[in-house]
Amino acid sequence: MFHQGSSQSLIGQAPAKVNLYLRVLSRRPDGFHELETVMVKLADLVDSLTWQRRDDGHLTLRVRQAYPRGLGRIPIPTDANNLVLKAAQRLQKETGTRFGAHIELLKRIPPAAGLGGGSSDAGITLVALNRLWETKVPQEVLLQLAADLGSDVPFFAAKNACMLGSGRGEILTPIPLQQRFALILARPAFGLSTPAVYRACHPEPEGFTAQEFISQLHTSPCSSLAHRLHNSLQEPAERLNADVGRLRELFSSEGITAHQMTGSGSAYFGICSSMQQARHVAERLKQLGIPWVYTSTTAV
Ligand code: C5P
Repeated sequence: MFHQGSSQSLIGQAPAKVNLYLRVLSRRPDGFHELETVMVKLADLVDSLTWQRRDDGHLTLRVRQAYPRGLGRIPIPTDANNLVLKAAQRLQKETGTRFGAHIELLKRIPPAAGLGGGSSDAGITLVALNRLWETKVPQEVLLQLAADLGSDVPFFAAKNACMLGSGRGEILTPIPLQQRFALILARPAFGLSTPAVYRACHPEPEGFTAQEFISQLHTSPCSSLAHRLHNSLQEPAERLNADVGRLRELFSSEGITAHQMTGSGSAYFGICSSMQQARHVAERLKQLGIPWVYTSTTAV
């Protein structure tokens, strides 16, 4: 997850994720949605962070962006609205530590994509600062703090590469995954707002369950997962951003059998037979003008 920089700093990487399966089961009275989702971290698409301990208790953040020009400049807050600083503040409050931190964040994971970038930065920051500040908050408490920050944050504060998320996504069960998938990823020019996509979705209480999906994941070759990938948020996302549907058509025409949108979008992924195929398709998508294209294996 991370390693020692100097005696007072840590260096680490926050991975992106994709949702191989996401079923929205119902709307909850608290405004969230009850769901079941299978999430897997990516090995090659990561944000880079350093955490430098400060003795004056202050929390500061510098963000640099490493997206291709096609995505344009995406405003990312560097003040208390950034989830990384919220995570640091939350841990300070919980522990009463006198330490602060200066955090450097290099963003490669595009925002508003359903790839979990902001949640991952926050999740790993909780774990890193708990070590750097020697605050010794137990993992179960850290996961609770993570859940207060966002539904996906506990997944990134946990070590496992692949997990089932239930509740609003924060109740986690590890899924042992032996195989690595070769993925092609793409994001249209415009991202999607998570609350807007959830508001537009129709819960699907019936259908192929997460448990059934997980047993297929263990037993099937990846070609047969094509009919098993599922995301309840894709249909509303396609209504809100027509580019998502265009990516679906493009992935089909490029001969990728298993593909879908990740999370609440707008990024889209396909499972390829090899990294060689993924790189080949990536070149094609770049030539066709897709603003952000990436290849990665899943982590194990
Ligand atoms: O938990 P998080 O802050 O990531 O959620 C952002 C928004 O996404 C929520 O305010 C809610 O509108 C929506 N959401 C939801 N059900 C979930 C997760 C998120 O409705 N399980």
